[in-house]
Amino acid sequence: MLQGKKILLGVSGSIAAYKAPMLVRQLVKAGAEVRVVITPAAAQFVSPLSLSTVSRYPVVAETATDNQWNNHVELGRWADLFVIAPLSCHTLAKLAHGLCDNMLLACYLSATCPIVVAPAMDSDMWAHPTTQRNLAALTSFGVHQLPVGEGELASGLVGPGRMAEPPEIVDWVEQFFAEPEASGYWAGKHVLITAGPTYEPIDPVRFIGNRSSGKMGLALAKSLTARGAQVHLVLGPSTEPVPPGLATLVRVETSAEMYDAATDLFPGMQVAILAAAVADYRPEEVALKKVKKAEGGLPMLKLTETADILHTLGHSKRSDQLVVGFALETQDEATHAVEKLVRKNADFIVMNSLRDSGAGFGVATNKISIFDRAGPKQDFPLASKEDVAAFILDHIAS
Ligand code: CTP
Repeated sequence: MLQGKKILLGVSGSIAAYKAPMLVRQLVKAGAEVRVVITPAAAQFVSPLSLSTVSRYPVVAETATDNQWNNHVELGRWADLFVIAPLSCHTLAKLAHGLCDNMLLACYLSATCPIVVAPAMDSDMWAHPTTQRNLAALTSFGVHQLPVGEGELASGLVGPGRMAEPPEIVDWVEQFFAEPEASGYWAGKHVLITAGPTYEPIDPVRFIGNRSSGKMGLALAKSLTARGAQVHLVLGPSTEPVPPGLATLVRVETSAEMYDAATDLFPGMQVAILAAAVADYRPEEVALKKVKKAEGGLPMLKLTETADILHTLGHSKRSDQLVVGFALETQDEATHAVEKLVRKNADFIVMNSLRDSGAGFGVATNKISIFDRAGPKQDFPLASKEDVAAFILDHIAS
């Protein structure tokens, strides 16, 4: 809930501005007091009258109205949080360079509160190195950035560049006020997640797999995007819904594909959380045609070990990178978890035991203990996988 929170919403000129009244409504509904400042270009996409009606305050657009100067310093100091959504490519460039030719920019330069931006633009503009450099400048000033969504854009192109949806922005804001430090830690961080099972083919119709649903890794991905992280998800064959707002989604089937995707992405990451249940072995050879039932005697399946992603990342990580592994155990849990922490050179191991009812594969809940390279082990209560994701992220952030 956002009871008593003061939010200044800045709206700049992008087609996504048509969603701004919905965003204001949802913030007000959650209990926030919302004031809106818009750029001249935004007024061409959304009517100030709609925004003043839903926010119940006059919309600030001009430096002066009716011969009265609008005090940007006061607005910038009034807010507990300044949300700029949508952030157009042009306004982003102006923010990055400190230009000040409209009220939104003046408020930005005078704001003493935290700031979060939700960019919205065409995918080519989004991918342009200038845009990415401007964003990097903004995040280096401590501005939080919500990831862009992928999908159909106003130009007719399909790709990244859509503004985060109003409910995602509200989620982020709620999370921010609930856990300002934890959100602050994750905001803008590039995080790799592996999730789900892997399927190791025997022939075109059969495979070796496991019962992982991918729920835990997907809950982590969702919780991370809500905290403003740039999430790069490498997902095995899971049928669970994928959360919106990911920076990268790579769908894979085999452990080798998961290994390639994870090791390719890792150099650009600050944190890797390896929640996938990767097969330890795969058939040494994959038959090109369906293997027929053997006549006389049982067929032998020759297995070979798969490459260990956690081991590879743990032993190649830089000093500015954190690597987090999982361990699902059935006996001698603590001994195995500590052994994995050391052998795979992880910073944390999140252990769950199949002896705890409500923990493990397929179920909606989990019960974990976190083994920490730099501190004591911590036990957590049985909780939903969403709450467990929050325990893990808060623990790492702390
Ligand atoms: N893991 C991995 N790549 C593999 C196997 C495991 O990245 N090929 C990661 C998992 O994602 C998990 C951690 O390693 O984060 C522990 O996996 P687990 O299967 O419990 O470890 P193993 O070393 O295979 O030990 P065990 O003998 O218990 O299976």
